[in-house]
Amino acid sequence: MPWTTALIPPQGGRRALVTGGTSGIGYEAALALAGAGAEIVLAARDTGKAEDKAAAIRRAHPAARIEIRELDTARLASVRAFAAAWAREGRPVDILLLNAGIAAVPRREETEDGFERQLATNYLGHFALTGLLLPSLRREAGQASGETRVVAVASIAHRSGRITFDDLQRRRAYGPQSAYRQAKLAMLLFALELDRRLRDAGLPVRAIAAHPGVAATAIARRGDRAGPLAARIGAGLLGLIGQSAARGALPLLYAATAPEAEGGGYYGPDGLWEIRGDPAPARIEPHARDPETAARLWAVSEALTGVTYPL
Ligand SMILES: NC(=O)c1ccc[n+]([C@@H]2O[C@H](COP(=O)([O-])OP(=O)(O)OC[C@H]3O[C@@H](n4cnc5c(N)ncnc54)[C@H](OP(=O)(O)O)[C@@H]3O)[C@@H](O)[C@H]2O)c1
Repeated sequence: MPWTTALIPPQGGRRALVTGGTSGIGYEAALALAGAGAEIVLAARDTGKAEDKAAAIRRAHPAARIEIRELDTARLASVRAFAAAWAREGRPVDILLLNAGIAAVPRREETEDGFERQLATNYLGHFALTGLLLPSLRREAGQASGETRVVAVASIAHRSGRITFDDLQRRRAYGPQSAYRQAKLAMLLFALELDRRLRDAGLPVRAIAAHPGVAATAIARRGDRAGPLAARIGAGLLGLIGQSAARGALPLLYAATAPEAEGGGYYGPDGLWEIRGDPAPARIEPHARDPETAARLWAVSEALTGVTYPL
């Protein structure tokens, strides 16, 4: 039987913190988790947009509990401020969904931290966020309501991605797609390495990766970045070959909630080339499984972000 949102176990008493929940698959995931009873924290760079999305979730699920927090994953200062405020309140997180992302920024952009923007937004911000939130991840082993999970959103694009350690910020050779592929490969390497480290530390927290296949979301429509023509072509392509954002969110939801989803696993659609379909184990390219690359990336990420994991 295909896995659908109807199979999400009851999430009452659980708190899900979602990045990128104001659009696309992140919004759909937040909506479904709220429908299953989870308390939702929308960590968003645009809090006005998050208010609108929270209202939409409440219209669908009037009992939903949703909180909005400001978080820009492309700015370490924002990540640190977010995490510090969260830590002060001491509330546990059961699901940390690392989903915020941008794609195919046409010309190289640098963030205030000196990072290439796609790497910063999609990966480095999430690396820092997870490290800083680690003490807040619920640690009660054998919880009746389910495991604590960190879910990292990767992509089919990881397959042809390369971590260019000698030019991680792509100063010498920037390509809109290759920078995206590097960032998504980094997310997958990170999820697998995080799960290994959590296990070694004996923590009852799992890290799982997921990808939506190809989903018709706003990611290619961001005309401010891609330019109107490229944005229209990109959006047309996603619409043509992709599935809906709601279906694209299913592998994320599976990774976040299904009892069968395993720590260190990677889930995506089961159709041809994993573009569309029902959630199932996804293919991890050998270079994304390489523990040496993962450990090296981890060390570089700690140095770049200044966030050292307390593991
Ligand atoms: N769509 C696909 O086919 C596809 C395929 C593979 C992987 N993915 C991945 O899926 C994830 C979600 O993408 P989507 O397709 O749903 O795209 P989307 O509709 O454009 O949603 C992207 C989300 O990320 C947020 N975001 C972007 N930059 C941010 C920042 N600096 N700080 C905080 N939030 C930020 C956006 O916030 P705003 O609303 O404020 O812009 C939005 O909520 C991404 O990680 C993407 O790489 C998508």
